[in-house]
Amino acid sequence: TIDQRVDSLLQLMTLEEKVGQMNQYSGPWAHTGPITEDGNILQQVQEGKLGSMLNINGVAHTKELQTLALKSRLKIPLLFGQDVIHGYRTTFPIPLGEAASWDLEAMEQSARVAATEAAASGIHWTFAPMVDISRDPRWGRVMEGAGEDPYLGSLIAKARVKGFQGNKLGDINSVMACAKHFAAYGAAIGGRDYNSVDMSDRTLWEIYLPPFKAAAEAGVATFMNSFNDLNGVPASASSYLQRDILKGKWNFTGFVVSDWGSIGEMIKHGYVKDCYEASQAAVMAGSDMDMESRCYTQNLVHLVKEGKVPETVIDDAVRRILRKKFELGLFEDPFRFCDVKREQQALNNPKHKAIARDVAKKSVVLLKNNNNVLPLSKQAKTIAIIGPLAKSERDMLGFWAVDWPDSSYIVSQFEGIQQKLGNNSKLLYAMGCNIEDNSTSGFAEAIEVAQKADVVLLSVGERRDMSGEAKSRSTIHLPGVQEELIKAIKATGKPVVVLINAGRPLIFNWTADNADAIVYTWWLGSEAGNAIADVLFGDYNPAGKLPMTFPRSEGQLPIYYNFLNTGRPAENDKDRFYRSAYNDLSIYPKYAFGYGLSYTNFKYDNLKLSAETMNMDGKITLSFSVTNTGNYTGEEVVQLYLRDEFASLVRPVKELKDFKKILLKPGETKEINFVIDKEKLSFYNQKLEWVAEPGTFQVMIGSASDDIRLKSKIELR
Ligand code: IFM
Repeated sequence: TIDQRVDSLLQLMTLEEKVGQMNQYSGPWAHTGPITEDGNILQQVQEGKLGSMLNINGVAHTKELQTLALKSRLKIPLLFGQDVIHGYRTTFPIPLGEAASWDLEAMEQSARVAATEAAASGIHWTFAPMVDISRDPRWGRVMEGAGEDPYLGSLIAKARVKGFQGNKLGDINSVMACAKHFAAYGAAIGGRDYNSVDMSDRTLWEIYLPPFKAAAEAGVATFMNSFNDLNGVPASASSYLQRDILKGKWNFTGFVVSDWGSIGEMIKHGYVKDCYEASQAAVMAGSDMDMESRCYTQNLVHLVKEGKVPETVIDDAVRRILRKKFELGLFEDPFRFCDVKREQQALNNPKHKAIARDVAKKSVVLLKNNNNVLPLSKQAKTIAIIGPLAKSERDMLGFWAVDWPDSSYIVSQFEGIQQKLGNNSKLLYAMGCNIEDNSTSGFAEAIEVAQKADVVLLSVGERRDMSGEAKSRSTIHLPGVQEELIKAIKATGKPVVVLINAGRPLIFNWTADNADAIVYTWWLGSEAGNAIADVLFGDYNPAGKLPMTFPRSEGQLPIYYNFLNTGRPAENDKDRFYRSAYNDLSIYPKYAFGYGLSYTNFKYDNLKLSAETMNMDGKITLSFSVTNTGNYTGEEVVQLYLRDEFASLVRPVKELKDFKKILLKPGETKEINFVIDKEKLSFYNQKLEWVAEPGTFQVMIGSASDDIRLKSKIELR
């Protein structure tokens, strides 16, 4: 068995060789963290001092390094890890955008394509999915996760792990996945990246841990710990997280890699005085592999020899790492991911492009559509596309693009729309302004172009490096003078459709109140232009729903739909007298979690309950009908929320507990069922036990968290 093979190899290893397996260095060609100058990496590979490398792309490079690794005494192959976050060459929408599709199959498929391309390019391991819950869009990394909801986030975590890892590790098109960042990194205070996290165990278990647990249950091969301290303990040194919860309660048998330099950074945290202490704290807490801090390489051998770390702790970490190398089949054939021909085929596969286009259009969220200005007719006369993102290609890829395809592989919005229109219509263009500076010198030309058009598309938003790691922002309004440009174009009297390309929820209140239509496109990836054209011209009816609440002001942050009611809730904007509200700000977000329009309308009715009361081992089936009352075939994400009215702990005003994405033709009705059982009514009580307590629960079914169409109550006995 693999375990026996691991054990016999371990017996042959010197302590130095074991410690070697616990180190991961970045390749010298690309960096995703601060650069560490450190002697001759190639020499160290050849001496068996590294177990893994990151940031090495392409068969040519991985083959060269693997050849060197095989010159080491025990010929243990290297693992190549990479941030394949939303595609490899074929780039998919940013993960937050994909989450807006609420389409688990689509997300699994996107991860599958990413794995196929990455594996063909020599990569064994992706540092994805990022499953951090995030409630504060100032944090730049919201782009990389699935948004604010633990239930949706858990399902997406599972789908992505399944997509990356396929049926099993060792399949030629599978890569190891990595659930990151363990844990609570998404709750960095004030949304400032790398900041501390201070939270109750209750919030940790109820909101932040569920997607990690789901990833572990889905068999994720690895976990990455996080930069932040959690209640004063840096995650890399947290035995509570890594030993008690992950490897203890959850029985996780894979290995944990640190984040880039996070073990050494514990010195700056003020938790340890040097790398020696950092290594001891991290390894004892269950951090199996050190990414880039160089602490393990310099200290673990000494720590063992000086009796500060038992060798059994090292053995456990090495066993976990070697097991994955065996499972990947690297001992049978260290070069099985190094086939140039396969690489060429996988990276130029038209089927992958088609899947990327499909996922991209599913990720689009229609925020506004006054007077049905959308979809546009293909026979439309003259269309203008204006704005700094209209012709941009690179920005469509978003943060964490890996392979950097050349521009022939990326479809800009201008290009996608032009292709869709053919010779039917005229497509005019003006840039109008830059993304970030304050110059309005391009406005005059943009206004002139708009005046010649029947309808104006305005493509605005963020540059690809404005959301992502270390991209926190104190203000998340549409940057620069872009909203001024929208005002100037709107003043021409032409219908204005605003396309917002961004890595996070932005604030654009004037636009929200005055534009004719708004399409939130996130960063949609290499097929962005085609997908957007499909949506604009009605070849696809948008069905995306927001996976994060959109605030109307930074003053509302953090903001989320599943809040606790308080003893003095404000129930509307008029009555804020001695209520929990800001005196100078609405109590409502700009757009709620779960919100998104369609070109058609859906009517919900006929809610029936199989019973109104249930016992702990019982079930209640909710059935109701949804009818497409409009003129277009469309999809609806039907959402079920519950509220526990009274409990031994205060419960959220609403919690997403189920959803279904359904397709309906005009006039068609479908019967929908949701089943409520004890699991759906359970929560972590004060002792952190997962329990359901008898009592009444509100049942809310709707089209968004703030658009509840059907209501009822049930009782658990
Ligand atoms: O995987 C990433 C992580 O999410 C943030 N720091 C760098 C790592 C490797 O690139």
